[in-house]
Amino acid sequence: MSGLAQQHNAINLSQGFPDFPIDAQLAEFLADGTRNGYNQYAPMAGLPMLRAAIADDIMARYGLSVDAEQEITVTPGATYGIYAAFTAVLQPGDEAILLEPAYDSYIPNIEMNGAKAVPVALTAPDYRVDWNKVKAAITPATKAIIVNTPHNPTGAAWNHEDWHTLAEILRDTNIVILSDEVYEQLVFDGGRHYSVLQYPELRAKAFVFFSFGKVFNNTGWKMGYCIAPPGFTDAFRRIHQFLSFTVNAPAQYALAQHLNSGTATQVRPLMEQKRDYFLSLLRHTPFTVYRPAAGSYFQLVGYGNISDMPDTEFAKWLTKEHGVATIPISAFYHNRKDDKIIRFCFAKKEETLALAAERLSKL
Ligand SMILES: Cc1ncc(COP(=O)(O)O)c(C=O)c1O
Repeated sequence: MSGLAQQHNAINLSQGFPDFPIDAQLAEFLADGTRNGYNQYAPMAGLPMLRAAIADDIMARYGLSVDAEQEITVTPGATYGIYAAFTAVLQPGDEAILLEPAYDSYIPNIEMNGAKAVPVALTAPDYRVDWNKVKAAITPATKAIIVNTPHNPTGAAWNHEDWHTLAEILRDTNIVILSDEVYEQLVFDGGRHYSVLQYPELRAKAFVFFSFGKVFNNTGWKMGYCIAPPGFTDAFRRIHQFLSFTVNAPAQYALAQHLNSGTATQVRPLMEQKRDYFLSLLRHTPFTVYRPAAGSYFQLVGYGNISDMPDTEFAKWLTKEHGVATIPISAFYHNRKDDKIIRFCFAKKEETLALAAERLSKL
């Protein structure tokens, strides 16, 4: 859709990336990294200063202790971490459960490891988990389940009950959890993020993925980290060693300095303001907002008042004829299930959102 947006000179509310500059301090730290000589291979697990800063950050925000040496691995983005973890866990013939609609790398990552992806559909339009369906999807071949909260593409966020139910379902199994928490800092309306790390029973069998790109608005740096128990981390690093081995050193230096500075711009208030602004603009359009995004930087809308086209066709039409690019939700289902819902990314400058809304209000 980004390609199509470019071709038609459309405003791009499709792909999930901010269109505004990063914190000037962070940019300075990156330059410092190269000036201070962080230009050669960093240690395989990540610069000790960055892993220590991450451990401090997790302690400050969650009150949880994480062993920087044995439980944190710096990765070139969360997507890479997810692939490496699947590779550490899955053998050909295994099964891995995912909840759809889902971030698009999960199924290919499972299949690249010779395993079978077992999709379980969330229930539109609020996209809560139907736990009976998850339970029914488990077979003796199930090795892993990947979960994602706050959720891309739906903006839904898990509560305590969700984790509690997952714990019950997995209690007598050896199923490994991959928990994609890249939007952990984006939970709105006074809510909080519930991380798998807060549930000792689940944490003991989980890989958790974080992305600096979503926290510091620098998705192009492709920097993230994986937290997992020591045994899991060991297996993870065996894969990481032969995939990229190590991660961009000056960026690691910059992120460590930024985390330690205590003056990094907080992403939640900024994105919450953008969500609210975008929702206020959507009121002047014919789209249906089933519920405001609880988290992430995506807002779903229904377009039943405008058209009965399939969602992919509608998204292309909107891009080509009305100059606003969006993503059809069917793109996040293996079987292209059409909920007649599209996703807008609101991690954009106010003027970008205003211009897009002006075009949408003419529909
Ligand atoms: C759910 C989810 N996981 C992972 C990622 C990717 O994170 P990274 O850019 O750090 O690989 C994204 C990015 O859009 C995402 O939405």
